[in-house]
Amino acid sequence: MASDTSWADRPGRMTPTEIDTSLPHSARAYGWMLGLKDNFPADRDFLLNLLPNFPECLDIARQNRQFLYRVVSYLAAPPEQGGAGISQFIDFGCGLPTGDNVHQVAKRFSADARVVYADIDPIVLTHGRALLAEDESTTIIQADMRDPAILQHPDLVRLIDFTQPVAVLYLSVGHHLKDDPGGGLADARDTLHAVIDHAVPGSHIAASQVVCDDPARGRAFGSAIDAAGIPWQSRTPAEFATLLDGLSPLNPGLVNLKEWRPDPNQPPLPSVDLALSPFEGRAQGSNLYEYGGVLTR
Ligand SMILES: C[S@@+](CC[C@H](N)C(=O)[O-])C[C@H]1O[C@@H](n2cnc3c(N)ncnc32)[C@H](O)[C@@H]1O
Repeated sequence: MASDTSWADRPGRMTPTEIDTSLPHSARAYGWMLGLKDNFPADRDFLLNLLPNFPECLDIARQNRQFLYRVVSYLAAPPEQGGAGISQFIDFGCGLPTGDNVHQVAKRFSADARVVYADIDPIVLTHGRALLAEDESTTIIQADMRDPAILQHPDLVRLIDFTQPVAVLYLSVGHHLKDDPGGGLADARDTLHAVIDHAVPGSHIAASQVVCDDPARGRAFGSAIDAAGIPWQSRTPAEFATLLDGLSPLNPGLVNLKEWRPDPNQPPLPSVDLALSPFEGRAQGSNLYEYGGVLTR
């Protein structure tokens, strides 16, 4: 993997370099809900406090990761198989590696698929380097997707050809993007538009965030997460849709992710840890859900 030292050391860069185990982190808490083992007491305590009030959070995290599989399968499949035929992907806020990561799903359809994974959390880089950066066509970088200079990262420039269609993924990260982040960082709308607005026709964006139809409950959920140290911006579905203005959603539009082209044959996720199993199966009919879709310019 190419060194990113000069980019990473430039003034104004704000990504943390140390793994902090004293506070819960999004990647690790979310990963625990997916059945991963790389987490610490702070991550587990955080979820065990949150889930009694918001039990649907477990199912919707898992529904989001299953959405990723269906989205990447569609984007990478050749047009003759009904797909978008895209062979280069940027996965912003990629999280910890699971069984079916973007490059593994994409390469089933397109052997020459290239993937750049990016995450702000240094633990994702540590675990991801071994598992995600398997060959010259896949890399992982530690970066803040809100950084206005993100597209100049050397590994991104090396792997992505912006004269060709690109798929850019922001899955279950919309809620981490504040409307007013300060510090010279891009706001949520500008972050989501940074790549797609400059990409060639045929490019796609997939994006999702946890939303709530009841704004007061959504704010209570977001405040509980924000207070624990994980940045969170509560939104209704309409507020999230506004961030994607000017883009055209593909069928079936922006929806509760479990309704986005469901595939009864997709591979299952690892099973839920015993400590979380009381919270399984609680998302049915809930006003809190993961919302998003796939859009083009
Ligand atoms: C809920 S996880 C989603 C993981 C993955 N995208 C998925 O859908 O399975 C959110 C991820 O976004 C990352 N993240 C949050 N804010 C970020 C930022 N400003 N820049 C890059 N990554 C960020 C977190 O570290 C975490 O790994």
